[in-house]
Amino acid sequence: MKVDYLEKAKGILLNNRKDGFTIPNPTLYPFQWNWDSGFIALGYSHFDLNKAIEEIDTLFESQWGNGFVPHIIFHDQSQENYFPNYEFWHSASNPTAPEKPTSGITQPAVHGFIIERLLEQHPNSETLKDFIIKMIPKLMAYHRFLYSHRDPNNEGLFYIYHPWASGRDNSPIWDESLNRIKLNKGEIPDYQRVDITIADASERPTSHQYDRYVYLLDYGKKNQFDGKGIDDCPLRIQDCMMNAILIKSNDSIIKLGKQFGIDVSEVEEWQKLSKSNFHNKFWNEENSVYASYDMVAQKQIGISEIGGYVALFAQIPDTESATKLADKIKSYSTKGYYLFPSYDPETEAYDAIRYWRGPIWPHMNWMIYHGLVSYGYPELAEQMKQDTLTIIEKFGFYEYFDARKLEAEKSKKGYGGNYFSWTASTYIDFKNM
Ligand code: SER
Repeated sequence: MKVDYLEKAKGILLNNRKDGFTIPNPTLYPFQWNWDSGFIALGYSHFDLNKAIEEIDTLFESQWGNGFVPHIIFHDQSQENYFPNYEFWHSASNPTAPEKPTSGITQPAVHGFIIERLLEQHPNSETLKDFIIKMIPKLMAYHRFLYSHRDPNNEGLFYIYHPWASGRDNSPIWDESLNRIKLNKGEIPDYQRVDITIADASERPTSHQYDRYVYLLDYGKKNQFDGKGIDDCPLRIQDCMMNAILIKSNDSIIKLGKQFGIDVSEVEEWQKLSKSNFHNKFWNEENSVYASYDMVAQKQIGISEIGGYVALFAQIPDTESATKLADKIKSYSTKGYYLFPSYDPETEAYDAIRYWRGPIWPHMNWMIYHGLVSYGYPELAEQMKQDTLTIIEKFGFYEYFDARKLEAEKSKKGYGGNYFSWTASTYIDFKNM
């Protein structure tokens, strides 16, 4: 019998839906996550616009008074199967935090470009127009927080102090800076991981990394998550992907603001600075890719990871750099990989099954797909799309996937969580193009 994957994908979103928001996955991630909700809204927009609107609306109900939008909203505090839980984060340590508990770090600011896409699909919806008019000041407050609290040298490029904020938790980007943090036992609060009781430990970050995640969380908490002390945190990295995503969302806010008569001159100022500094700061000639910048060691992190390609999506590279990025993407497809491995398979740190050290992430493919289309690579983009659809149909709606074609065929499954919301959303959006 022919399987209707589109119906399956919709069913996943609806099954993961709670009261006004959608959890990423029923076992590993039982609350609302920031950038997940952005992509989840994209999936809903093809069959239930109100749910798409509600997803983002609910997320921003927990925006802090200082503009910050947290990466987790702990809607259900009776749900105990997650670490770090709401008590561990203790968002109330910041006076501007809302009553409902949240985490104290953020995630990639995708919501600007997501609402622009919602409007492209529903140009005549008055409800959506009203929602966008309500959202623009909230998005501006969010972006303003990043530029005013995390850009001490006024470069238009903000930093983060916790790998979780990047969404790419255990990417090799963080290895050197995490290893620099030497910890004595007493410096890490007591904690018990839950993730490795749910997913296979070989697919998740290591305990050495987790100790440092917990230390950095605690560092933020001691500084109320927005204090000046954060500028002295031992890990401070300007992430090329988060900045590319912010630039992309700035573009959307500028466009939508002008359309609806809202003053966005402040965003235009940020954007000028961000765009003029992005390439010089992040372009890595040796690897022909964008690379994040370590503010503590004051050097580029010269590795090739998937975040370096998202600049295509924000239309930052010139034609020459874009060609180099596209050539690299193409090269993997000729070497027996599905597109697109999250870390360079030709390096020592590549780990085909461990979270952000090699596997494919469907929502990342979605962003890079659009980047390739905008630079005039329709065939390569199409391959990116088809590979994404193929691995989902063959192996299931998992969180991430093995890029090695032969190995993936053998294991016949993906990795991490199953019935994953943004995997379902990406599938729905790709299928509806
Ligand atoms: N991605 C992290 C986790 O695994 C933090 O959001 O829980």
